[in-house]
Amino acid sequence: MTKRVAILISGGGSNMVSLVESMTGDHPARACLVMANSENAGGLAKASALGMDTDFVDHRPFKGDRAAFEEVLHDRILQAQPDIVCLAGFMRVLTEGFVSKWQGRMLNIHPSLLPKYRGLHTHARALEAGDAYHGCTVHEVTPELDDGPILGQARVPVLEDDTPEVLAARVLEQEHKLYPAVLRRFAEGDRTPVKIGF
Ligand code: GAR
Repeated sequence: MTKRVAILISGGGSNMVSLVESMTGDHPARACLVMANSENAGGLAKASALGMDTDFVDHRPFKGDRAAFEEVLHDRILQAQPDIVCLAGFMRVLTEGFVSKWQGRMLNIHPSLLPKYRGLHTHARALEAGDAYHGCTVHEVTPELDDGPILGQARVPVLEDDTPEVLAARVLEQEHKLYPAVLRRFAEGDRTPVKIGF
């Protein structure tokens, strides 16, 4: 049975586009919904242009009540009946209650070689640390932030004149390869980590 995939975004949605575009032909999954936490997420227009159903739940009226926001979010995601939820630049921290509803079925991409640099400003932190390599990770979402079983990593070299922006662009290019590769395996029931650039 073809798996249904909901993709959650907050911003430009370049990872979302690479995921949606990968799910064609004999791929074991299809994208069923692109959901954002703001009407203004740039990725929503890109998703519509790809023929996707889109929706958003603005987190701001909930004034920091994450559980209340997530209750509405969860109901709206359920309407699309997804088997898998992919966080793709979804910048809201999720509560344990929400995560537990999707545990084992929710993936996230993070722009660092986890367990290094959980949280924000990962590229600047890798540069500050003088790392020779940086990269991105796709992992199963568990209640702990940017934690959970690693399903794939892509590694890039850090170059001498890198700025956080230049390094971020090099990593993002790999994100667009890594996330579709991991999702395909995951949808096939294979959790062997994908490795790119090692
Ligand atoms: C990506 O680099 C993704 O790894 C990062 O946000 C960017 C979203 O770009 N995610 C996180 O930092 C999550 N903590 P996109 O909207 O173009 O896919």
